[in-house]
Amino acid sequence: MDREHVIYSWSRQGGLDPLEVTGGEGCWFTDAAGHRYLDFASQVMNLNLGHRHPRLVEALRRQAETLYGLAPSFASAPRSELARLVAEVTPGDLGLTLFTTGGAEANENAVKLARWVTGRHKVVARYRSYHGATAGAASLTGDPRRWPSEPAVPGVVRMLDVYPYRCPAGHHYDVSGADALDPAAGHAGQCAIAAGGPHLEDILRFEGPESVAAVILESVPGANGVLVPPPGYLAAIREVCDRYGVLFILDEVMTGFGRTGRWFACEHWDVTPDIMTLAKGMSGGAVPLGAMVVSEKLRPWLEEHEFASGLTACGHPLACAAGVATIAALRDERLVENAAAVGEVLREGMLDLADDHRSVGEVRGLGLLWGIELVRDGQTREPLVPYAATGEAAEPMAALRRAALDRGLHVYTHGNVLLVAPPLIVGRDEIATGLDILDDVLALADGLAD
Ligand SMILES: Cc1ncc(COP(=O)(O)O)c(C=O)c1O
Repeated sequence: MDREHVIYSWSRQGGLDPLEVTGGEGCWFTDAAGHRYLDFASQVMNLNLGHRHPRLVEALRRQAETLYGLAPSFASAPRSELARLVAEVTPGDLGLTLFTTGGAEANENAVKLARWVTGRHKVVARYRSYHGATAGAASLTGDPRRWPSEPAVPGVVRMLDVYPYRCPAGHHYDVSGADALDPAAGHAGQCAIAAGGPHLEDILRFEGPESVAAVILESVPGANGVLVPPPGYLAAIREVCDRYGVLFILDEVMTGFGRTGRWFACEHWDVTPDIMTLAKGMSGGAVPLGAMVVSEKLRPWLEEHEFASGLTACGHPLACAAGVATIAALRDERLVENAAAVGEVLREGMLDLADDHRSVGEVRGLGLLWGIELVRDGQTREPLVPYAATGEAAEPMAALRRAALDRGLHVYTHGNVLLVAPPLIVGRDEIATGLDILDDVLALADGLAD
């Protein structure tokens, strides 16, 4: 039935053979044959409270019994309460929220609002980025997932990426030497792109700052390889945006709600955007939920103008009830702190894997979000699969993902990067179990490396 009638996203339908999942609990899920899998990707980096968290189950049950659907024009307790909590947990004066059903719509709305408020139309976004699959969000997305949606929505201008391992300006960053310990001195110190400010300012000069509405960045690009920015980078972007009257949008869809060991990744560098976009872990992944959260600076415009956008399910009571329960669980169970503490164990494990496997070019991460970049050759840094590989060319990574699954571990891969992002409830034993399996899987990758 499934193969006859279901269209799978991001897939060629012919030849698909998906695993049938029947249940889950905590960091584990179960297939139809009764095999258990450790969820080292929190599904798609969204089940941050794991599977079937009792608090989420209860919140959804209660809300369904009270009020399970409502027009967005009515006020309701779950939405009001969630908006209050979002204002509490987000940094700075972010405090006015539009709820959406996911990350792409949050980014669509952020760009619309930035264009209306500034009266400008261009938006600066990076290449190694993913902002969603709707037409506008796919246009913001810089990675090749944009290509099938082209021609893109006009007005997007590209900025280059902070990627010390493969610096777009050609600088060499020594991953095993002193540079690796001090990315600011080792890379941002010598590279205008990694410093952020000079590169953005140059772009604004040539685009004409009076035509640029916003810069949109993932605080830490996730699927594109967990590219942690050097200290000072986001602050430099913020400063240039302020100087030119450009709004700063941070996409925290993957990194928000504790994933990196802080409530929001931008807090690692004390930077607050004008607009923050959220989704994924916001509802613990239990139901679709996203948000655009804006700063006080935009309140006067919103008070005086029509916000001409919205969706039938904006602020859906079930989704908001899940959001409220998620924040309560994150607080009461100290899960952001757990992500930071267990993240340290994961960091050590990642560094060991990098030492032990010649197929590992670099490991990068923060808290419970890590990327393992796989290469054929550690010297030349030739990726294990070519960038934007599909079909046969991408097969080595698909084989590694299957090998992990055969051994009871679910991981996410994108390009030549294997992402590790367990639920925030993960314990040290589970980290050890997952790392052992990864050790086995990377031995297979070593066989593919020269
Ligand atoms: C950083 C980032 N932004 C936006 C999105 C899009 O979110 P959604 O799939 O909920 O539309 C994603 C999804 O993976 C993401 O990782």
